[in-house]
Amino acid sequence: MSRTLALLDQASGSPSRTREVTPLSAFRRDRSPDFAARWRRFSEMLERERALGRYQAQYRLELLGPIDHEIVVRDPFTSQPKRMTCFDSNSYLGLHLHPRILAAVRRTLDVAGYGTPSAQLLAGTNRWLCELEDVVAAFHGREAALIFPSGYATNVGILTGLLGSGDVVVRDRLCHASLHDGCRFSGARSLVYAHRDPASLDRALDRESAGGGARLVVTDGVFSMHGSIAPLLALRAAADRHGALLFVDEAHATGILGATGRGTEELFGRPGCIDVLMGTFSKAAGAAGGYVVGSRELVDYLRFHANAGLFTASLPAPICAGIAEAFRVMEDEPELRQRLWANTRRFGAALEANGLRVVSRDSPILSVVAGRAETLLAAGRDLFSAGVRCGVVTYPAVPPDESLLRLTVNARHTDEEIDRTAEVLAEVASRHGFRASGIAARGGETRIGVEGSAA
Ligand SMILES: Cc1ncc(COP(=O)(O)O)c(C=O)c1O
Repeated sequence: MSRTLALLDQASGSPSRTREVTPLSAFRRDRSPDFAARWRRFSEMLERERALGRYQAQYRLELLGPIDHEIVVRDPFTSQPKRMTCFDSNSYLGLHLHPRILAAVRRTLDVAGYGTPSAQLLAGTNRWLCELEDVVAAFHGREAALIFPSGYATNVGILTGLLGSGDVVVRDRLCHASLHDGCRFSGARSLVYAHRDPASLDRALDRESAGGGARLVVTDGVFSMHGSIAPLLALRAAADRHGALLFVDEAHATGILGATGRGTEELFGRPGCIDVLMGTFSKAAGAAGGYVVGSRELVDYLRFHANAGLFTASLPAPICAGIAEAFRVMEDEPELRQRLWANTRRFGAALEANGLRVVSRDSPILSVVAGRAETLLAAGRDLFSAGVRCGVVTYPAVPPDESLLRLTVNARHTDEEIDRTAEVLAEVASRHGFRASGIAARGGETRIGVEGSAA
């Protein structure tokens, strides 16, 4: 178990100055009867870390402009603007800055205002939300779509809406936090299977064969921290063997995987094989929000059972209009996806040529495992100094001692940025002695070499 809380300062000190502190998991488990005592202990620890100059200031780094291949931030140590190369954006196609999409947002702003100050089932559902539902359902070749204000709310809403006590849900060990939470909150019997391992899923479903409830298998299509792809067809087969439905989170697959960006189903050549398909608008579409697509009956059921969509205001109309335009741009401008994949191939090859082991090169998420949080945080400081911004990922986003650098490529990166960053990373990783973990060692197996993948 990690003995380190990921709160170390990223600009000062050397690796040898870091020391073990109380892990974040310990604070999360704190169930003392006095609430105030719990948060006082946490504040005291933060104060101690700040006083020692080890607070991880990058967690609240102030961005002075848009997230892009290059960003300008306020340097937390000098308060001056600092220009950095950024490999930490989920806007893989750069659509949050696309002129056609911005124009659609502006047009709608003038007629609909900027907010949505009522629940849709009371005041009414705005026209732009209805249009967006149609666009998203058609994109995935489904009968209907339901939209939520965030991807997190989508997952929690679907899982708590579908499942209840007596049901069984089995999820990949490394699925996104919103899926873990949704399964836990649902009241169903909730199990995990080994990462990307259909045999482990089979065993879990076998063990749970008794009982009369429904069963659901849950996975990410592209794993958000590791960039690897779920073995969709094998999971489908395992679910079928046990009479279970298959739910796939396509947050990092939609717009990216497959010849036309339809995601994991298209990559594996099995359109329509996912029973419950969710996605987010906060990645390739470049905005915020989430959705589920499926049969009309499924969507109608969720519209009235998924509280996270029911008891909440909908996405603002200008954002809906912008996202609908983003889906049209994904279809009209395939060159953006081609550029993204060219950049992904170049960066993956450059990292490996520089001696780094990438967990998977099947998606634009290229992660390098560092192991212990202390090692990673020390490396993070050096990367910040060198002007490279990337994900410095520790528990609870990944299991303790599986800390990693998460690098996301996008269509706007230049060759020069890619080559230079690979060299900087290699230098920093070797200085801090990143070790290959079990996950890194499995990296090669994830390559599937289908059109739309980087393999
Ligand atoms: C796989 C996955 N699912 C769901 C979410 C939640 O989406 P959002 O940030 O739009 O709430 C994320 C976001 O990081 C994600 O990576």
